[in-house]
Amino acid sequence: MQLTPNQAERISTSSFLVTGGAGFIGSHIAEFLLAAGAQKVRVLDNMATGHFRNMAPFVNHARFEYINGDIRDITTCNAACKGIDYVLHHAASGSVPDSINDPITTNNINASGFLNMLVSANEAHVKRFIYASSASIFDDGHQTPYAVSKYINELYADVFARLYGIETIGLRYSNVFGQRHDPQSAYAAVIPKFVMQLTKHESPVINVDDEYSHDFIYIENVVQANMLAVCTNEPRAVNQVYNITFEERTSLNQLAKYLRELLSSFDESIARVKIPNAFTQKHNTHPVAFVQKSKKLLGYDPAYSLRAGLLKSAGWYWAYLPRLAEEKKLLKKQPGQYTTTVSLDRQYENNQFL
Ligand SMILES: NC(=O)c1ccc[n+]([C@@H]2O[C@H](COP(=O)([O-])OP(=O)(O)OC[C@H]3O[C@@H](n4cnc5c(N)ncnc54)[C@H](O)[C@@H]3O)[C@@H](O)[C@H]2O)c1
Repeated sequence: MQLTPNQAERISTSSFLVTGGAGFIGSHIAEFLLAAGAQKVRVLDNMATGHFRNMAPFVNHARFEYINGDIRDITTCNAACKGIDYVLHHAASGSVPDSINDPITTNNINASGFLNMLVSANEAHVKRFIYASSASIFDDGHQTPYAVSKYINELYADVFARLYGIETIGLRYSNVFGQRHDPQSAYAAVIPKFVMQLTKHESPVINVDDEYSHDFIYIENVVQANMLAVCTNEPRAVNQVYNITFEERTSLNQLAKYLRELLSSFDESIARVKIPNAFTQKHNTHPVAFVQKSKKLLGYDPAYSLRAGLLKSAGWYWAYLPRLAEEKKLLKKQPGQYTTTVSLDRQYENNQFL
């Protein structure tokens, strides 16, 4: 994203807290802010699903701080918000199946942890509280504990803005993909899954019930939305929730074809893998998130379509996914034994940043 002079000035004169900054989305946001000259970027994460390797590109940056802590602990949240101008709250339990199996833990992290962060941010008089909501709110019609927890976030943010005057902006992401995408992630897991099947010259398995269209959003579009939420001076843009997607419906069959084409540049024989044609009546029933409001009020202008995002990230998927899958297998077989990537993580874990 190309920053305007005003946006660059805003970022370079501000301090930021990125919760969940060791995760997929949060680490990209933290990295962008540091590269843009932010005064300070502090990450709060408990490594539940985050990885030190995600922070490797910026972990030694002079203006980076790391707090290993849990948003369920209000004292930790208070310490994390101290001296911060903008909070970008991304720590959460993102797994829908986990939320079904254990709704209490999801609620504790995603609803109570969110409330802790909002209270701490308000007491620390931050300038703005930006948070990750989810398109699952309307995809699922609040039918999972995860979607409910994200809806609760939006309700609390709205109430806090009205009662205490804190500025909030919620960003409802659809399925985010790109570099550092955790293959174990509950989101858009279909992309890593298809990549792994294609690299083994197997046909991607398309479940007929899943074939209907999906909204995918490339990570750089998500980073852009966060920067716009930080930098907007438009009063009507604040205390709102925005859909962050590309407004593009893609069937899993089409997605598999894109991936086959892109991965063929690394291994020509992938071009011959057959993509099954799943047919379903559901094709047009999947709701697409509209982004007119995000465009009009925030100036959101996503640069990357699904195909363009895959083009940028295919190399990463090709290079890292098989390694990460191998690492996972090894860790299962030999718990406590660290593989190359994991020992790299451990090296960062020992650093004292705060
Ligand atoms: N990835 C997507 O497609 C997507 C879509 C919609 C919304 N979201 C939301 O975006 C945010 C980031 O998602 P992501 O894909 O980067 O997931 P992620 O799992 O990679 O990142 C979440 C981070 O939060 C940390 N965390 C979890 N519980 C914590 C706790 N109690 N205290 C402190 N840190 C904790 C994890 O260790 C992890 O680093 C989440 O709020 C998620 O619900 C993601």
